[in-house]
Parts: sequence; C-alpha cells; structure tokens
Amino acid sequence: MATPLKLYDDADGWKTVMFLYNSALKEVNTKLEILNDEFQHVHQYNPIEHIKSRIKSAESIVKKLKRYGYETSIQNMVEYVNDIAGIRVICSFTSDIYRLADILAHQSDLKVISIKDYIQNPKESGYKSYHMLVSVPIFLSDSVFDTKVEIQIRTIAMDFWASLEHKIYYKFEGNAPDYFSEELRECAKIVSNLDAKMLSLNEAIKKYSATS
Ligand code: GTP
Ligand code: MG
Repeated sequence: MATPLKLYDDADGWKTVMFLYNSALKEVNTKLEILNDEFQHVHQYNPIEHIKSRIKSAESIVKKLKRYGYETSIQNMVEYVNDIAGIRVICSFTSDIYRLADILAHQSDLKVISIKDYIQNPKESGYKSYHMLVSVPIFLSDSVFDTKVEIQIRTIAMDFWASLEHKIYYKFEGNAPDYFSEELRECAKIVSNLDAKMLSLNEAIKKYSATS
C-alpha cells in the first residue's frame, strides 16, 4: 500500500520530493513509449507525434501556492500543486487522444484523480486539450509513494494554438488587447475544423487502403 508522504521543510525534504516527481515522470514516459511502440508493432502506426515533459521550477511552484493562498511548504506543494510533474503528449488525430487516455486510465497501477476535457468543453479563450491528473506508485527500497503527474494530451494543431496563445498571454501579462483574443478565438475555430478534416481524411485513407 502507498505510504502517505511525510516530508520535512528542509533541503532533504525538497530533494526527496523532486526525486519522486522525476521518477513519476520517467514511469509515465515509459508507459507512453511502450504504448506507442506496441501500436507501431501491431498496427504499423504511431498515435504519438512526440512527448514533452518538465518539472515545474521552484519559483513557479511558490508563485502558484501564493496564487492559491497557501503558505510555502513542501507539504502544501505536494497537496495543492498538481502540475509539478507535467507531460504533454502530442498526437496527430483527436481520436488518438481519446484512445490513449482510455488505455492509460485502464492501467491498474495508475490512478486517475481527475479529468478535464477541454476538447469537448473548450475554454473561453479557445484553448483545447485533454487533461488527466493521475498518480503513479513509486517503489523505493522500503516504501511506496503515490506521486501525481499532470498529463496534457492534444493534437499538433491544438499545441500550435496553445504555444502562440501562451506567447501572447506572457507578452501582455494577461491583458492582451481584444483584437488578439478575437483573432485567437478565430484561430481556435480553424484548428477545430482542421482537426476534423484531417481526421475524416485519414479515416477515408484507411478505408481505401483496406479495400485496395
Ligand atoms: P493552473 O491553470 O495550472 O493553475 O490550474 P487549473 O486548475 O486552472 O488547471 P487547468 O487544467 O485549467 O490548466 C492546467 C495547465 O493547462 C496550465 O498550466 C497550462 O499549461 C494549460 N492551460 C490551461 N489553460 C490554458 C490556456 O487558456 N492557454 C494555454 N496556452 N494553456 C492553458
Ligand atoms: Mg489554469
């Protein structure tokens, strides 16, 4: 059974949590790579275009805790900051996103804590992506720790949109002129159309190859 984390607010406690989050990233990365390899092996097809992962910087963790109104402590960051370990999975097609998410959710060692489907329910800004907050057990020599990882799964087009939006958001520190927000919402519609068209074209190609 997983042991609850008992961590002390010192350099050792910090090193221990960072070690756990790094290990959790490795575990989830490996799971995704195995699935991608299996798809290649069985269907001669890669659902994953690429994977990016990162550990949140100490500065961003402290900023987020402040924003949420919590004191800076290791216990609080473990409890309230869900994206210390983050993985972004970029797929070609929307259908790949749901397939991957479903397969991951059924893996018995992985617990799904929450799902935010911003593809079915895009944000006001136009942001689309599928977010899964999961925990994976990290097995150490004499204990097991459940460690949280935020997985964002999106298409290449959604990722393209999110990068530009992020750049604009930072440039204007969250107060972009209306023109940019409107143009971005327009781009988000184009992204959805493109994803839908690419998906149906791909389905047609598959049918064509199956019959020829
Ligand atoms: P934080 O926004 O991380 O405080 O948490 P939350 O509870 O709002 O979670 P949410 O799932 O909405 O967002 C988590 C992450 O998704 C963010 O840190 C971003 O990486 C990404 N994200 C969410 N909304 C947007 C958006 O409008 N634009 C872009 N570019 N990224 C977003
Ligand atoms: Mg947010």
